[in-house]
Amino acid sequence: MTEATQNIVVEAKGLTKIFKDFWGRPKARAVNGIDFQIRQGQVFGFLGPNGSGKSTTIKMILGLLYPTRGSLTVFGKEPQNVDIKSRIGYLPEETYLYKYLTAFETLDFFGALFGQEPSVRQERSRQLLEMVGLAHAYNRPVGEFSKGMARRIGLAQALVNDPDLVILDEPTSGLDPIGCREVKDIIRILASRGKTIILCSHLLADVQDVCDDMIVLYGGKIRASGELKEILREEDKTRVVCPTLSEQTVAELRQWLAAKGVQNVDSIAVDHPVKNLEDFFLDVVKQAREQSLDTSGAHGGGEIPDYLADPNNNAVLDQLRRREPTAEQKQEAPKEEKPAVNQDLLNKLTQEPKAAPKPQTDEEKSKEAELQEANKKANDFLAGKFSKK
Ligand SMILES: Nc1ncnc2c1ncn2[C@@H]1O[C@H](COP(=O)(O)OP(=O)(O)OP(=O)(O)O)[C@@H](O)[C@H]1O
Ligand SMILES: [Mg+2]
Repeated sequence: MTEATQNIVVEAKGLTKIFKDFWGRPKARAVNGIDFQIRQGQVFGFLGPNGSGKSTTIKMILGLLYPTRGSLTVFGKEPQNVDIKSRIGYLPEETYLYKYLTAFETLDFFGALFGQEPSVRQERSRQLLEMVGLAHAYNRPVGEFSKGMARRIGLAQALVNDPDLVILDEPTSGLDPIGCREVKDIIRILASRGKTIILCSHLLADVQDVCDDMIVLYGGKIRASGELKEILREEDKTRVVCPTLSEQTVAELRQWLAAKGVQNVDSIAVDHPVKNLEDFFLDVVKQAREQSLDTSGAHGGGEIPDYLADPNNNAVLDQLRRREPTAEQKQEAPKEEKPAVNQDLLNKLTQEPKAAPKPQTDEEKSKEAELQEANKKANDFLAGKFSKK
């Protein structure tokens, strides 16, 4: 096996899915003979209008649907192979949650499905809630969550098992711009940790921001594919960005370019670059926060750009540790806190050894006992449903 083939995480050849009606007659040719390869560490985008076959392809990768024709391998095996299931994390198009479980219990429940020890589940659930900006909603039933909050817990749930392949179907739908930026940051950080990400989205700007490669589907067929940077590059143009020039300097520049043999110098566009709306919005929110303006809405992740500017900033981790809920906070309604995406924390989540960390101090032991108590409802539920645990 060559290095190139070793790195292939998903490979489709002539992949076809035809949905049939009750009498076995073809009803919809959802995916029609597509070929693609997704390599380890890539962020791979599936684009296409409604009904073009994106979710069907994802469901085949997950082994939820059988291809009608063609071949599909995930980690070199059939998608139905149970050995690969624990290596995949999935955020479905619609987030399905048990509405009476709290945010913490939800993640604990999914951790239990992967056979994780209670102490590992508790630690991971807490860290994931911090990461997706839901630390303040630790004890709230997810049935009360807004759409964006449900998306965030869905993303945390997709990462519970420290997956090698993360499949995200419309991860930013329903999220505010701050949440969108956080999700994109998380995706990039996960990819930098060697995870492979499949991203299905209609938000082209998001795809452009995070994806390395993509395919564009239409009517179940691939209409365009390749490396994003290459596809979007306009080879026949050059852009120079410099401090503001006077009209006279621009006129002289045109003359100089004409002397250099550049054609149609009068049609050369000279203007002021336009700010990205996302950056502008995040700036406005950041300024409002700095002025301590009041809002009854979400308090999501204004600190992300600072964190990501310095990936080795351990002070951030200290800050997160200080924000772990105390025993009192677990009893009472938790206060809103500034959530955060934190690279150190994410590193910890994605590199953590599988063995359960043992409590080292009396304080930690008592914290764990309190958490056990707080989580009794979910544990009872799990004990009833999953007697092997
Ligand atoms: N279970 C099903 N039974 C019959 N037809 C289906 C089924 N699931 C999907 N289809 C059809 O397959 C085609 C592709 O659907 P799919 O859900 O893959 O599209 P999509 O690209 O994910 O669209 P969207 O952007 O709206 O999510 C559509 O014509 C759809 O009606
Ligand atoms: Mg879909």
